[in-house]
Amino acid sequence: MNKPHAVITRRIAPEAVHLLQQHASVWQWNASDPVPRAILLERIGEADALLALLTERVDDELLAAAPRLRIVANMAVGYDNVDVAAARRRSVIVTNTPGVLTETSAEFALALIMAATRRLKEAMRWVERGHWTAWDPLLLLGIDLTGATLGLVGYGRIAAAVARRAHALGMRVLYHARSRHIEDEERLGVEYAELPSLLALSDVVSLHVPLSRETYHLIGESELRLMKRSAFLVNTARGGVIDPDALVRALRESTIAGAALDVTEPEPLTADHPLVQLDNCLVVPHIASASIATRTRMATLAVENIIAVLSRRAPLTPVL
Ligand code: GLV
Repeated sequence: MNKPHAVITRRIAPEAVHLLQQHASVWQWNASDPVPRAILLERIGEADALLALLTERVDDELLAAAPRLRIVANMAVGYDNVDVAAARRRSVIVTNTPGVLTETSAEFALALIMAATRRLKEAMRWVERGHWTAWDPLLLLGIDLTGATLGLVGYGRIAAAVARRAHALGMRVLYHARSRHIEDEERLGVEYAELPSLLALSDVVSLHVPLSRETYHLIGESELRLMKRSAFLVNTARGGVIDPDALVRALRESTIAGAALDVTEPEPLTADHPLVQLDNCLVVPHIASASIATRTRMATLAVENIIAVLSRRAPLTPVL
């Protein structure tokens, strides 16, 4: 019997590719840049399985070009790049990679919270520009996290892992989500708040909602105005959750103190983009889950989902 065929859209951890090769013939776009759409549309025609990244738009057009496709294994916890309804109409299973990246992503959110509140980008630029002439008691003052209030917008696995860390640092933690998390309220003392009061009370606002029609530009002009002038905004969720033009204005006019962004709209940002240029905005290239172990686990989980579906077993982490 012919082996099923799988398409992998990028260079990923080789051990995951080798594992998949034991179960399927594999075509891989083995490069660091995204596969051109035309090539993917051509290659998908033969595929029983697709290992996709968040950079691929898995829409009706792509699915229509894939008559044999049984699974889209998205190598990310977010899957806003996949038209799940279109996949369901075609009986294509969609999986993501929850759980394996939680701690790594929470660590990185903390790194951005610390970098923003202690003005790391500005400080590095200060030295690089040759301005470091003497120790100065009033130079580059930031805020302490101990005793500060962190506002988590969204409360999934990653936000909860950030809450645990923030609690250990002595922060007060507010959260806003669709449902209450009573256990964490009791165990960690996290406090539920409506979005406007969370924005008004927090010294740091950290975003943890998936991108959807409801969360697109959730943080815009009026939300930024609700934040304290001394507060910082951190985004490790999806760029589209923030209205970027409103954020540029807020940062330029100092209606908030600063931002740290792992994700942006659009993605990537060019080097001359105002958010990249501003001293009070730190931008990194969507790397919250980028530890060696975690990226290997994500690739392996995506492959395990494919193997399960190709072997007519239930997928490990379906999105629905
Ligand atoms: C990365 O952004 C992910 O969703 O895993």
